[in-house]
Amino acid sequence: MCGIVGYIGHKNAYPILIKGLKRLEYRGYDSAGVALISEEGNLNVYKAKGKVADLEAHCQEKDITGYAGIAHTRWATHGEPSSANAHPHYSASGRLALIHNGIIENYLTLKENLISRGFTFKSDTDTEVLVQLIEHIMLSNSLPLLEAVQVALHQVIGAYAIAILDREHPDTVICARQSSPLVVGLGSDNEFYLASDTSPIAEYTDKVVFLNEGDIAVLQLGKKLQVVNMDNVKQHPKVKQIDVTLGQLEKGGYPYFMLKEIFEQPDCLRNCMRGRINVDADRITLSAVIDYRKRLIEARRFIIVACGTSWHAGLIGKQLIENLCRIPVEVEYASEFRYCNPVIYPDDVVIAISQSGETADTLAAINLAHEAGAFVFGICNAIGASIPRQTQTGVYIHVGPEIGVASTKAFTGQVTVLSMLALCLAAERKTISAEQYKQMVSELTKVPEKMEEALKINKQIEKLAPIFTYAKNCLYLGRGYNYPVALEGALKLKEISYIHAEGYPAAEMKHGPIALIDSEMPVFVIATRDKLYEKVISNIQEVRARGGRVTALVTKGDEQIRKLADHVIELPDTLECFQPLVASIPLQLLAYHIAVCKGKDVDRPRNLAKSVTVE
Ligand code: M6R
Repeated sequence: MCGIVGYIGHKNAYPILIKGLKRLEYRGYDSAGVALISEEGNLNVYKAKGKVADLEAHCQEKDITGYAGIAHTRWATHGEPSSANAHPHYSASGRLALIHNGIIENYLTLKENLISRGFTFKSDTDTEVLVQLIEHIMLSNSLPLLEAVQVALHQVIGAYAIAILDREHPDTVICARQSSPLVVGLGSDNEFYLASDTSPIAEYTDKVVFLNEGDIAVLQLGKKLQVVNMDNVKQHPKVKQIDVTLGQLEKGGYPYFMLKEIFEQPDCLRNCMRGRINVDADRITLSAVIDYRKRLIEARRFIIVACGTSWHAGLIGKQLIENLCRIPVEVEYASEFRYCNPVIYPDDVVIAISQSGETADTLAAINLAHEAGAFVFGICNAIGASIPRQTQTGVYIHVGPEIGVASTKAFTGQVTVLSMLALCLAAERKTISAEQYKQMVSELTKVPEKMEEALKINKQIEKLAPIFTYAKNCLYLGRGYNYPVALEGALKLKEISYIHAEGYPAAEMKHGPIALIDSEMPVFVIATRDKLYEKVISNIQEVRARGGRVTALVTKGDEQIRKLADHVIELPDTLECFQPLVASIPLQLLAYHIAVCKGKDVDRPRNLAKSVTVE
């Protein structure tokens, strides 16, 4: 939540900052702002309520140049979305400007203290408190800015990634992180970039430093990157090479990132399996399983912690691991897990699933697992993010940057990694036969082709979508492996079209939700041919008997359900456990087209942000 960009070098910072904000807009888009030090030595701040385009329009007539600048796109926590609450915030004298991603939990205490000393505030934000505090410490103790930042951060409780400009030192940007991500890019020409993730930096350099917890970095022209901690102890940052192409960061002709990412899925899954599945030998090799074989196969229990879509992938992971490996698995919302005093044994394996690798609740759940002595395994997409760095081992899903706020390719990537993990462990534990293993591995490699076939129904779904735009409520039903698919389909619809939707296990319907069914209520049923097929047909009959309107996702060639449902969407057949990978596609497309019909901003749904770095 909130995106941070910074630049210091010999180019005009403004266009770099605006472009960077656009790349980070998925993290928040209720207001935006930039601060630059002009050639005359003025520290100018420009802010606007709304999206980055509104900030650009606000700045259009102005001649904005500067070689040091910071910028921010906001997802409101403290204070409504407004120009006053937008970042950067000035210090009392106007000498400093600061941007912040995170939450200063004790900001009220700090604010009251400053008010008692005569300070006044122009915004309702916790961020303004921090910049005033830093300046107050700096001026009242005659400290250099770096030291004042260190003293101030010792007083702060909460999460932050911050960047500060000082009018008196136009050759320097100071930044710091604690529980919110920050990456420094090392440019070729004595210049530094700074951002919440690598997407605004990748265009200029492939050399980055992912700041660690508690790091404070000084980006000074003509000097090497200097990193210290809050106690001024020198840190030794590792420079990493990133591999992000511009094509991955742009829409490539699609109207929205979400549609691009839906269509990318077959190739994403190929990338996810590349080097891990040996097609000739029908064998899966995951280095995490080789390195930690004993710890994993002898686990007393797996606990999956995740949020949102990643939690849905976890529910599929539970079925895969329990069915194939006979290891008990619990799936927990990270946000609940962290506060429910969970029983965690040292011989448990905790699997943290996260696209961004920065979700605050999932990170907190990981900390809890570490404290209990459990082994922690990460499944992430964003390379170098906090979760992969705070887990003992893990597997990247390698689906490339996911920019649409509604997660699509990350979900199928996560399910693919969980499938490979379950198969690897099943082979090690000998809980499935060699033949079964071979057949399943081979089928998994065919899933991308089947997804390509499923994507061909895009036009059919586009035509179908308008009839659902009137709906106030929708029900998604599925059983077994398809139950999490129903949950995920409902979440996609809710988040981008704002239609209320519920996912339910089909048989649970008669324990309550059946009361909602009438001719106004579209019911989407995932009814592919699997061991519960006949039972799902009975569930469809129950909906029909109450006047419900059924759209069924069926296995290609299914004539039985065609006679019962109002609409059918045919899917290529695959093994039951891989069906979620194929069945998710029409539900993603359906949510997408319904939202487009309703005129919604698919990539930037209201109130949401891609990366939930606050709890
Ligand atoms: O980055 P993470 O996978 O940890 O994010 C978890 C959720 O915030 C995320 O899946 C969210 O539910 C998406 N908007 C769903 O489309």
